[in-house]
Amino acid sequence: IPEGIDLVEEINKLRKEKNAVILAHYYQSGEIQDLADHLGDSLQLARAAAKTEADMIVFCGVHFMAEAAKILNPTKKVVLPDTKAGCSLADSCSAEGLRGLREQHPNAIVVSYINCDAGVKAESDIIVTSSNAEEIINSLPVNQEIIFAPDRNLGRYLNQVCNRNMILWDGACIVHEAFSLERIAQQMAEYPKAKLIAHPEAQEDLLKFAHFIGSTSRLLDYVVENEAEEFIVATEEGILHEMQKLAPNKKLIPALVQDESCNCSECFYMKLSTLEKLYLCMKYELPEITMDEDLRIKALASINRMLELSE
Ligand code: 13P
Ligand code: SF4
Repeated sequence: IPEGIDLVEEINKLRKEKNAVILAHYYQSGEIQDLADHLGDSLQLARAAAKTEADMIVFCGVHFMAEAAKILNPTKKVVLPDTKAGCSLADSCSAEGLRGLREQHPNAIVVSYINCDAGVKAESDIIVTSSNAEEIINSLPVNQEIIFAPDRNLGRYLNQVCNRNMILWDGACIVHEAFSLERIAQQMAEYPKAKLIAHPEAQEDLLKFAHFIGSTSRLLDYVVENEAEEFIVATEEGILHEMQKLAPNKKLIPALVQDESCNCSECFYMKLSTLEKLYLCMKYELPEITMDEDLRIKALASINRMLELSE
């Protein structure tokens, strides 16, 4: 990268020249969020990817999200600033493993959280995100046997709110399991009027104390709409950037994690995207997401069912 170049200006030029659209998740750094054409949660970004007319989709998020954009847009170029941007949840579940579990429960249907790779999506009947999981599971017959993969915390939470007994895959998000209940209790004592809000990937002991549980976009709406003035936010810290923009007068406190040297929770994978990598990725149109067509078609069926079943 030439010294002294204005990366934001160059990225804007490339966006125009290449008819590119930049999609960014709420966990990206603030400077990347500010550059995005669409900023959103997993569902909003999948919908934006499904609708775009751009020639190139630049996905500032993690690999499974860019892969979902490719599944929905086979003829478009989809690039991701750093292919090492994985996800501990997606890594916890393989297509073979899920097929094995399915063989043990031949009458079950498989509902998978979007945080999984294309192989797992291809083995699934329906994909859900944390924004639409409750609605989709409630739409299934009450006596339907269901396997839910890969997040055991979201699965347990959904079993509770949907009054189900889904068979759970034993995966978890390392970021949302790192919160410290003890340190959060101290924060609640320090800010007695604050509402504790949490993502459903967090563990049950924390969710029990939360005033509100929801996906990133729901947490954002809650902070904007709720009359409280202070919020302890138990999800990845990137969301605080947009929250503070939309609710400039509210006090937002990142929930503390077990590691006492950290004052917030960060997803290492999400933070692999940088302005430099974004610029290079747009300039050279690399690294590109590619996929076997048979696999894509199978994975697409489960994503399409999600898009049909949720508002
Ligand atoms: P959302 O769909 O709520 O944005 O969640 C994505 C994610 O990776 C949470 O860790
Ligand atoms: Fe995956 Fe957790 Fe990072 Fe979300 S926060 S991308 S679930 S590792």
